[in-house]
Formats: sequence, C-alpha cells, structure tokens
Amino acid sequence: LASQAEKPKVYKGLEGIYVTETRLSYIDGLHSKLYYVGYPIEALAKNSTYEEVAFLLYFLRLPRKDELDLFKALMAEARELPEDVLNVVKKMVSLKAHPMDILRTAVSYLAAYDPEVGVNTPESNLRKSLRILSKAPSIIAAMYRFSRNLDYIPPRKDLSHVENFLYMLHDKRPTEFETKVMDTIFILHAEHGMNASAFASLVTISTLSDIYSAVVSGIATLKGPLHGGAAEAAYYQFKEIGSPDKVEEWVQKALASKRRIMGMGHRVYKSYDPRAKIMRELDGEIAKIYGGEPKLLYEIAIKLEEVALREFAEKGRMDIQPNIDYYTPIAYTALGIPPEYFTTIFTASRIVGWTAKAMEYLKDPRLIRPLDLYVGELDKEYVPIDKRG
Ligand code: SDX
Repeated sequence: LASQAEKPKVYKGLEGIYVTETRLSYIDGLHSKLYYVGYPIEALAKNSTYEEVAFLLYFLRLPRKDELDLFKALMAEARELPEDVLNVVKKMVSLKAHPMDILRTAVSYLAAYDPEVGVNTPESNLRKSLRILSKAPSIIAAMYRFSRNLDYIPPRKDLSHVENFLYMLHDKRPTEFETKVMDTIFILHAEHGMNASAFASLVTISTLSDIYSAVVSGIATLKGPLHGGAAEAAYYQFKEIGSPDKVEEWVQKALASKRRIMGMGHRVYKSYDPRAKIMRELDGEIAKIYGGEPKLLYEIAIKLEEVALREFAEKGRMDIQPNIDYYTPIAYTALGIPPEYFTTIFTASRIVGWTAKAMEYLKDPRLIRPLDLYVGELDKEYVPIDKRG
C-alpha cells in the first residue's frame, strides 16, 4: 500500500473534476448564470421554444425558420408509440409502478422497435435521439391516462411539442399561457453541464453502447431525490408545512434535525439557481391567475425561502439557495400534473441534454474508467471452510 505520504487524493463524487470539454452549456455557479451554447437562459426562456432549444443543442446554433419548421415536423412525425409499448405502460400502471420506472422501462422497450438501435453513426444517433425525445411525452401522457382509467389520446402532428403533450394529458388543447408555462419548464430543464444523470449516460456511451441505453442510464439516475426527484419531494414538503404561518416552526424543527430542505442547495450553484428565479416569477403570475392550491403552495414556498435563507445566512451558509426543483411544483400543479409525474417531465426535457452530450462526446470518445483507492489488506491466506472459526 502507498505510504501515508504518497497516498493519492480521492475526489469523492468526482467533486470539482472536469471529465471532458463541452460547448453545450456553461454554469457560473457563483453569479447565478446559465448559458446554452452561449445564450443566456433568461433570453431562451423568454423568446425560444423547446424545439428551437433542442435544435440549438444538437447543431450548436439557432435554426433558420425553414430548418426549424423541418425539425418540428420530424419531431411531430415521431410521437406515435408502438401498440406493445402502450401495453407495457398499461401493465406497469396496473402494478402501481412509479412513473419514472414506467418511463425507464418503456424507453428501454422502444429500443426493440428501432431498426437502427445498434448503428453507431452521428446521423443514426441523431435520428434515434429525435425518436426518443418525441416519444417521451407520449409515454408520460399514456401512463397518466391509464392511471386514471382514461383512454390513451393519440398524438397530434399539428401542435407544438408541449402543446401536444398537454393535449395528450388532458384531451383538450392548452391555452397559450399553459403552453408558455410548459415550454418554459421544458427549456429550463433541457441541459445542465455534467450533472449526475448526464454523467451516467456519458459513462454508458463511452463504452460505445447505444443511445437508448445511455438514455435509460440517465432516467435511472435522474430519479433520485438528491437529483431530479427533488421537485416531487419539495411538493410534499410544502404540503407537510400546510400554510405560510407554519413555516417558521417547521424550519426550526427541520434544521435542528439536520433535515435537507428539498429544492435547495446545489453542487455547482453557490448562489440562486437562475432557473429557479425564472420559475419563481412565473409562479407569481400563476398564483394570481389560478388561486387555489397553486397559490397556497406559492405562498408557502415564498415564506419557506425567506425563513430558510435567513437561517442559512445566520450559519454563514449563503451557498444554500433555491434550485430549479424548488419552484416547479407550483407550475406543475397549475397544469394538472400530479407530483409523482414531476420528474418524468424533467426527464422528457433532459433527454435532449443527455443525447446532445453523448453525441458531442462521441466526436472524441474516451472510455470513462476512474480509479478507486484500495484501503484493505493484501496477501491474506485462504483458510479451508472446515478450518474457519
Ligand atoms: C438537480 O447537478 C445538477 O446540475 C443537478 C440539476 C440539473 O439540472 O441536472 O441542477 C438538478 O438535481 C437540482 C438539485 C435537486 N436536489 C435537491 O434539492 C435535494 C436537496 N439538496 C441537497 O441534497 C444538496 O444540496 C445537493 C445534493 C443538491 C448538493 O449536495 P452536495 O453538493 O453534495 O452538498 P452536501 O450534501 O455536501 O451539502 C453541503 C452542506 C452540508 O452541510 P454539512 O454536512 O457541511 O454541515 O450543505 C448542507 C449539507 O447538510 N446542505 C443542506 C442542503 N443542501 C446542502 N442543508 C439543508 N438543506 C439543503 N437542501
């Protein structure tokens, strides 16, 4: 074993380690900034659409009008699901599987219907990525409908990505405002550097496995409550608090018992997550328009943020601030999305980030295989079983 002096440094969780270069996104964690291919997230959330952001991430530039129209048509064409995939979704709903498990399984099953699954060329990988990207909302809508004993609503090709998704969920065309809210959510979740699920999918693609497998790795990883599962956890946290006047007492108890406040803190943002800022403003509009539960959740969230940040600041922890998962529960609730589906929507959006990063990495791939430092004993003598104490 290396002596104490030569003991190599272990970077637990690969904290602070750069594993590759990228042009897809840049996070300035100290100054609440996020860029997709150099464009500030605020400008994209305000002016763009998910389809345009997907084009930007796949081609590293904004599309011309004719290119975007073709791209949207290709995505619209690919929304249908094979009958068998619907049957698997229905079966898993009957087994009361979690929506993230159903989505992971359905994407896995989709691979069997893709004749190009084993073809590893840039053109084929882009076609497969578009298929998965376009079908994910259909899978989520299917499981939502089946879980409420409602019929599957087949996709429409004349609606945008998020309009069609909301139409398939609720069997009615969304309003312009609902579409804008869902498009904003999809834009904000699209890509975010080397987050855990992106890394998981990159490890998969680095062995030259296929794009479907890389996306399945991403889904399996995003599910965790420390990552994409935090929005669902944040919703239940707001419900547990119940009203703004209960926040003070709840925070004192939570922090005393070292409980994590879900939707707060981040490995990279040591400032306010710019995506949370955008969602917070949108939630303010939503609270006014919808009232009811969205308004109550919003009032609790605002109060909890105020009290938690005050407490963290007193402990010198200005680095713990709201992240994207903190304010999305209010918008999802207004759009009629149940909490157990929140992370599936995060997933549907992030498929573009995972696949764009996988295709970027494949331009100059390197098997991802780090080290773990052995700290056990060596050369132990093997004792036959009848001689063991
Ligand atoms: C996402 O990586 C990405 O980019 C992810 C994401 C994306 O777009 O892909 O941005 C999406 O996953 C957002 C994060 C969603 N998760 C949550 O909201 C869950 C709650 N947050 C934490 O568990 C935590 O902040 C993490 C997991 C997000 C980050 O954790 P780190 O970097 O491993 O930090 P840590 O756990 O070591 O915490 C450092 C300190 C600890 O205190 P000490 O042990 O040093 O005394 O800060 C404390 C923590 O206890 N802390 C919190 C806290 N987050 C950190 N204390 C209370 N509440 C919190 N939320």
